[in-house]
Amino acid sequence: MNDTHPSSPLIDIVKVSKVYPPNIMALDNISLTINRGEMLFLTGASGAGKSTLLKMLCFLEYPTKGLIEQDGKDVSRLSAINLQFMRQQIGVAYQDFKLLPKHTVYQNIALAMEVRYENPVKIKKRVMALLNDLALSDKIHTPTNKLSRGEQQRVCLARACANKPALLLADEPTGNLDADSTAKVMKLLAKLHEAGTTLLIATHDEKIYQNTGHRIINIANGKLQESQS
Ligand SMILES: Nc1ncnc2c1ncn2[C@@H]1O[C@H](COP(=O)(O)OP(=O)(O)OP(=O)(O)O)[C@@H](O)[C@H]1O
Ligand SMILES: [Mg+2]
Repeated sequence: MNDTHPSSPLIDIVKVSKVYPPNIMALDNISLTINRGEMLFLTGASGAGKSTLLKMLCFLEYPTKGLIEQDGKDVSRLSAINLQFMRQQIGVAYQDFKLLPKHTVYQNIALAMEVRYENPVKIKKRVMALLNDLALSDKIHTPTNKLSRGEQQRVCLARACANKPALLLADEPTGNLDADSTAKVMKLLAKLHEAGTTLLIATHDEKIYQNTGHRIINIANGKLQESQS
């Protein structure tokens, strides 16, 4: 994922279906190409399949049918080492956050960088900058189970952004936020976009994609429809 050529595909989804047991058709024969450096919004009613699509792009779920290529590789045939390498290039802000509840805000974000053996000075600088961007500096030493949902959501996003990933998957990143925090989140995402990250953002929040000029993909009944903001 190091090639930053702007118009080459990073993700190629070809005729993918996802069926959960016993027979829940979450995605039905969808095809979608996402180019490097794109910022793309994924919309659709609750249960439409947005999270399922994001989960397949970070290898938490696999297609029942069809092909997903990331960086030119068939994701269902990756070796363990390649899977680990690819996963390291992806930041994920999960819909259910997946924070370590008893660890502090600082520890949750820093850990994402520590597992990559980043320099401790660089880690501290990056975490402080993210907390400042997201107005969380005063919560730095607070365990995440003592935060509001909106604060937890921002910590989750900060952790996803910490390593300046090649691909950022954000699942409802503004779902619990007021207008002021939403603006801060979108500013951070725009900064990553400018730096070359490819972003896929699942959202119900029309305000964050209206008039941005970015592609919008709507999922309804497991099928995709594309439009421009
Ligand atoms: N692990 C699972 N096992 C069985 N069914 C599942 C599972 N995960 C999701 N589903 C079903 O698949 C469909 C798509 O779910 P998904 O979570 O992708 O929707 P979504 O668009 O993210 O919804 P929301 O806006 O509520 O987050 C739903 O019908 C859901 O109930
Ligand atoms: Mg979802």
